[in-house]
Amino acid sequence: MAGHRFASACAALALLLGAGAAAAQEDYGFMPEGGKALLLEIVGGNLDTLRGIAGQTRSEAEWHEAILPMAEGVDERAVRTLAGYLALNMPVEPARLAEAERTGDLAAALPPDGRELAWYGCQSCHSLFAGYLTQDRDLQGWRSMFLSPFHRELRMTEKERETFNSYSAINMPMKVEDVPEELRF
Ligand code: HEC
Repeated sequence: MAGHRFASACAALALLLGAGAAAAQEDYGFMPEGGKALLLEIVGGNLDTLRGIAGQTRSEAEWHEAILPMAEGVDERAVRTLAGYLALNMPVEPARLAEAERTGDLAAALPPDGRELAWYGCQSCHSLFAGYLTQDRDLQGWRSMFLSPFHRELRMTEKERETFNSYSAINMPMKVEDVPEELRF
């Protein structure tokens, strides 16, 4: 998939530059793709396709049904991840799409997905491994994580929290062997 190709290109570049270890730590490519990454793969740089999807309001079940015919051979978890993301984050405000058209940066029009929210939102206070990657929780379990006193400071909107919860309930826990060794602490 494009994301993986990009990730390995970055890793190769980092090695060339002699920054392998540091760059590897910043790379979340080992985690299952989030809804934004999956959507960008489907859209493939076509703004009209993005517009078509980003203008719609559907429930998670409706998105799931709409995506399935296009997703032959795609991992069932990825389909559910994308349906959850779309239900929570579509439609996108027209102003953001207009900005994407102006700059040519489609990714910038889309709200962060669960993988990005976890990577950037959970590591500042404790390790991602114990507090996130190895946690087996359902939707309600992830919601209750946000209620503990030490998580009050988390700067995530309600929509971001639900996007995070949806992604995490579907994609976590990860198998230990799929997590880079330097993150297993
Ligand atoms: C502002 C600092 C901070 C951030 C950011 C943070 N945590 Fe925590 N977290 C803590 C503290 C403090 C504890 C309790 C002490 C400990 O276990 O290290 C904790 C404990 C936990 C625990 C074990 C206790 C429980 O609530 O079940 C989990 C799971 C957890 N965090 C998940 C997360 C996730 C997922 C994120 C990202 C969405 C996150 N944390 C982001 C501060 C933070």
